[in-house]
Amino acid sequence: METQASILTTSQWEQVDLLAATLDREQAIWVSGYLAGRSQLAPPTRADNPALGAQSAAALPAGPASRLVTILYATDTGNAKELAGMLSSAAEAKGLTTKVADLAKYKSRDLKDEQDVLLIAATHGEGEPPPAALDFFEFIEGKRAPKLAGIRFSVLALGDSTYEHYCAAGRILDERFEALGAERLAERVECDVDYEDDADAWIAAMAELLEPEAAPAAPAPTASVSVGGAPAAAAAPSAFSKRNPFTATVLENIAITGRDSSKETRHVELSLEGSGLAYEPGDALGIVAQNEPALVDRVLEQTGLSADAPVTLKAGETTLRDALTSTLEITASTPRFLTQWAELSGSEELKALTASDQAKARTAYFEGHHVLDIVRHFPVPGITAEQFVAGLRPLQPRLYSIASSLEAAPEEVHLTVSTVRYELHDLQRIGVASGHLATLTGDEETVPVYVQSNDHFHLPEDDASIIMIGAGTGVAPYRAFMQEREVREATGKSWLFFGERNFRSDFLYQVEWQELLKNGTLSKLDLAFSRDVRTPKTYVQDRLRLRGREVYDWLEDGASLYVCGDATNMAPDVHRALVEIVAEHGGTDNDEAEHYLAQLGRENRYRLDVY
Ligand SMILES: Cc1cc2nc3c(=O)[nH]c(=O)nc-3n(C[C@H](O)[C@H](O)[C@H](O)COP(=O)(O)OP(=O)(O)OC[C@H]3O[C@@H](n4cnc5c(N)ncnc54)[C@H](O)[C@@H]3O)c2cc1C
Ligand SMILES: NC(=O)c1ccc[n+]([C@@H]2O[C@H](COP(=O)([O-])OP(=O)(O)OC[C@H]3O[C@@H](n4cnc5c(N)ncnc54)[C@H](OP(=O)(O)O)[C@@H]3O)[C@@H](O)[C@H]2O)c1
Ligand SMILES: Cc1cc2nc3c(=O)[nH]c(=O)nc-3n(C[C@H](O)[C@H](O)[C@H](O)COP(=O)(O)O)c2cc1C
Repeated sequence: METQASILTTSQWEQVDLLAATLDREQAIWVSGYLAGRSQLAPPTRADNPALGAQSAAALPAGPASRLVTILYATDTGNAKELAGMLSSAAEAKGLTTKVADLAKYKSRDLKDEQDVLLIAATHGEGEPPPAALDFFEFIEGKRAPKLAGIRFSVLALGDSTYEHYCAAGRILDERFEALGAERLAERVECDVDYEDDADAWIAAMAELLEPEAAPAAPAPTASVSVGGAPAAAAAPSAFSKRNPFTATVLENIAITGRDSSKETRHVELSLEGSGLAYEPGDALGIVAQNEPALVDRVLEQTGLSADAPVTLKAGETTLRDALTSTLEITASTPRFLTQWAELSGSEELKALTASDQAKARTAYFEGHHVLDIVRHFPVPGITAEQFVAGLRPLQPRLYSIASSLEAAPEEVHLTVSTVRYELHDLQRIGVASGHLATLTGDEETVPVYVQSNDHFHLPEDDASIIMIGAGTGVAPYRAFMQEREVREATGKSWLFFGERNFRSDFLYQVEWQELLKNGTLSKLDLAFSRDVRTPKTYVQDRLRLRGREVYDWLEDGASLYVCGDATNMAPDVHRALVEIVAEHGGTDNDEAEHYLAQLGRENRYRLDVY
């Protein structure tokens, strides 16, 4: 108390003390990060020294020696970035000096000069690193990777256990740092989609482990440095977040595909009034959905459990129906559920799938067998409600690209949502979040939401040209881009390549694009309707090829490329088309064309938002 009083005035200290008493642990970490971020504005601190990122801690200005903790993250949808910010705050609260960097922007040549390196890496695609961090992974796996003797490290790997290559990116970093001679500070921690508890524990453990390295009588946190985006903790503008979502009111919710369409895509408008939530075009909105009541009933019926049975979850005691509706994932099965159900049912078939070398077979099995199907095929008479919920993982929010600009629609957020519907084992199924959103058509409907920033998919300067490629709901962020550019009267040219099934029923936002073309915000529009003429199908990449010369000229003139939508087929096919275009019109071979596109990526001129 005396120490604080000697730094702060009595009145300042009273205010700090008063605020501190109201904060829970997470809020306290956030506030500490916020203050650390604010302190960077006040010169002179080490944070103002742009050269610091390239220096080792030994070269830091005079003062008691403290090892520099470098926090590197690889992210696509923002979780790793948020955790990096929290880790920085926790470490600085222990008096440590941290530097936070996005691996998408980190200069790999600095790596050999680091001291303690804490890595947080998500896995994307089919077991790949986040696209923006690919260069770093190539570097660390390549021949030019430096010896890392003298460096200490630990890895937090983020993933989803339903994927065949679970936490693959984190595993690569862990193996490579060890192979290059770095000393492992602590074993790698792998986190499933419900990563919060494991990640919090790792963060606390790292801060504690490194605390002895803090300079003696370390001052209040002042020295955090950020490369490639401020630590999330210092940047959060609203009290609402993934861990504390805002209850948004539904303003509009309409199908924008025609009645005769073979699919349903909805335009959803939500109010953010009073939330303080802000976003940029390119960001995503997290939706906290509920399971379909009919599915909950089926699961209860199959297990023979009472809806009113009490169960204890992390948040406290509730009924089984509430838990299955709002808190637990009851569609996708997971390795954890499989292992538990194999034990309870005694099924040899399930037990065989739990073996560690069965990841591929397991993933294939999960695609055809959800929780309900496993419960139906392998009944466990007499199971208790507590036993059942113990195998289920928390229901995860789903992300949706934001389809509006705050400049054009203040305090609102718009989404373009394709309703997932399919049949499995003779039962009609509906996607958890897209299905839930499709039901919110009454008066005064609400849904909990949070903003997920997506630094890798933001607009360039207003006078730069952009080429936007999107199929289906992949068009959503481009609506936001165009709204923003229209309001700002941006002078950069804009070219949209849009693909859907049928012109008549699936031309999403047709009137708006035509209006934007008319007023000059949109310079060019190319369309590919795949099911109007079935043989051969026309996709966005075919339109790109057709316009190859002009696309290449735009790129040569400095245009940025954006690709959004399906990750499995569309994005790789579009990439192949771009390679061909660059090779043909740039007079190169395919390898050189790949390098050309990789260089665009490094310059943030080839950006992907695929799912
Ligand atoms: C950054 C980002 C942005 C996104 N933006 C958008 C957007 O703008 N618009 C949009 O609509 N979506 C978007 N998505 C996708 C969205 O997050 C959800 O994944 C999607 O809506 C499905 O979620 P759901 O809860 O409705 O379905 P879920 O309940 O998650 O069901 C989907 C799952 O159902 C299963 N499934 C589907 N079809 C079949 C079948 N035939 N047989 C067996 N199983 C099947 C699969 O396991 C599939 O993974 C985005 C995703 C990300 C990561
Ligand atoms: N994993 C998958 O196999 C898969 C497939 C479809 C959708 N999805 C997911 O479903 C969600 C919603 O999809 P959506 O309704 O927005 O759109 P979508 O189903 O992706 O379809 C939009 C348009 O893209 C076309 N398309 C299909 N394959 C393509 C390819 N290889 N290259 C370029 N275009 C291609 C479709 O044509 P056709 O349908 O006529 O072929 C359609 O015209 C997304 O999450 C998406 O990722 C996943
Ligand atoms: C399109 C997509 C593909 C993914 N592929 C994998 C995968 O192959 N293996 C895995 O373990 N996790 C996979 N994940 C899960 C992510 O790693 C996990 O959601 C992580 O928390 C994301 O972190 P980020 O927000 O920092 O990107 C995938 C997630 C998405 C959205």
